[in-house]
Amino acid sequence: MKKEWMALAAVGAMLPGAALAATAAEMQALADKSGCFSCHGMQSKLVGPGFAEVAARYKGDSQAAASLAKKIREGGKGAWGRIPMPPHGNLGEDDARKLAEWVLGGG
Ligand code: HEC
Repeated sequence: MKKEWMALAAVGAMLPGAALAATAAEMQALADKSGCFSCHGMQSKLVGPGFAEVAARYKGDSQAAASLAKKIREGGKGAWGRIPMPPHGNLGEDDARKLAEWVLGGG
């Protein structure tokens, strides 16, 4: 799986908007390092919803980044099913916010 993400990031780097693609690669690395991918796929559900599913659900919701950042740090349940997401209090607010925005941007 990891290889596929790296390949995707590499393809992204060749597209116009390379600055954005670099950020995407950094965000993938941060999410990977933070353990998000043990429970989330980029597209489809593992333990938690796929990040693309999350992006689709909150499309157009200007409050979503703040509330998802909070949920990432503090954990929570009930939005997608009965399995809760554990808290990630070790993530700084900045990183949690960046991850939330990255997820909302479709990963
Ligand atoms: C132990 C498994 C697990 C890990 C690790 C995990 N998640 Fe989750 N995540 C879940 C589950 C389960 C849900 C669904 C919770 C619900 O139904 O409200 C979820 C939900 C979410 C949501 C949507 C929340 C909502 O209210 O719609 C986002 C965004 C998210 N996770 C991001 C992350 C990020 C970023 C990380 C890494 C820092 C991460 N998750 C790590 C299990 C996990």
